[in-house]
Amino acid sequence: MKYVVFIFLALFINYVAFATTNNNQKDMIKLPAPVLKSSISVEEAMLDRRSVREFKSNALSLEHVSQILWAAYGITKEMSFPSLLRGGFKTAPSAGALYPLEIYVVVGNVKGLEKGIYKYLPEGHFLLKTYDQDVRKELADAALNQEFIEQAPISLVYSAVYSRTTKKYKDRGRERYVCMDLGHSAQNVCLQVVAMNLGTCTVGAF
Ligand SMILES: Cc1cc2nc3c(=O)[nH]c(=O)nc-3n(C[C@H](O)[C@H](O)[C@H](O)COP(=O)(O)O)c2cc1C
Repeated sequence: MKYVVFIFLALFINYVAFATTNNNQKDMIKLPAPVLKSSISVEEAMLDRRSVREFKSNALSLEHVSQILWAAYGITKEMSFPSLLRGGFKTAPSAGALYPLEIYVVVGNVKGLEKGIYKYLPEGHFLLKTYDQDVRKELADAALNQEFIEQAPISLVYSAVYSRTTKKYKDRGRERYVCMDLGHSAQNVCLQVVAMNLGTCTVGAF
């Protein structure tokens, strides 16, 4: 009997996981696997990191986007059965391993990706298309008219489901941990792009 209950629970858990991640297949884009070796050290990446506010007009590739998103919140230790920790431990630490961040990519100039807004899905390393217009101008306007944002081939936009963290940590979750989680993830991005010979600038004015 215990066996039967276990199977039922496992199926139920899987059903819930499926029901909550059942996105439209045609809008899902599988990202290439990240590269795990680099020609520069972490120390050199820290040494060279600087905020960059001028961008060339060259397009990024899907591999670039994949690598940057993996650095931001990619899964490094899967916990997919049953689905725990939103797919598993990630490249960035998170208070209580609650992973409140939801990362969107505003795409303006990426070979093989239409302009628009995409959501990063760490489980399976997918992009989900959520909007199909070029919103770079709106993004720059929303960031208090910082025009360089409009020139960037991509921008990562961080959002968070605060309740994931506040359910456990209450006000401390809201006032501290979600922002701390974001800072850890953003620093990964800052260092990753240096290792890729690209540049980035954190933007908090919006
Ligand atoms: C939380 C945060 C918010 C920031 N917001 C902006 C911003 O809105 N616009 C901008 O041009 N730079 C912004 N910056 C970048 C800082 O200006 C930059 O990190 C600082 O001048 C130090 O220079 P460096 O990053 O080259 O070392 C921000 C940095 C952080 C950490």
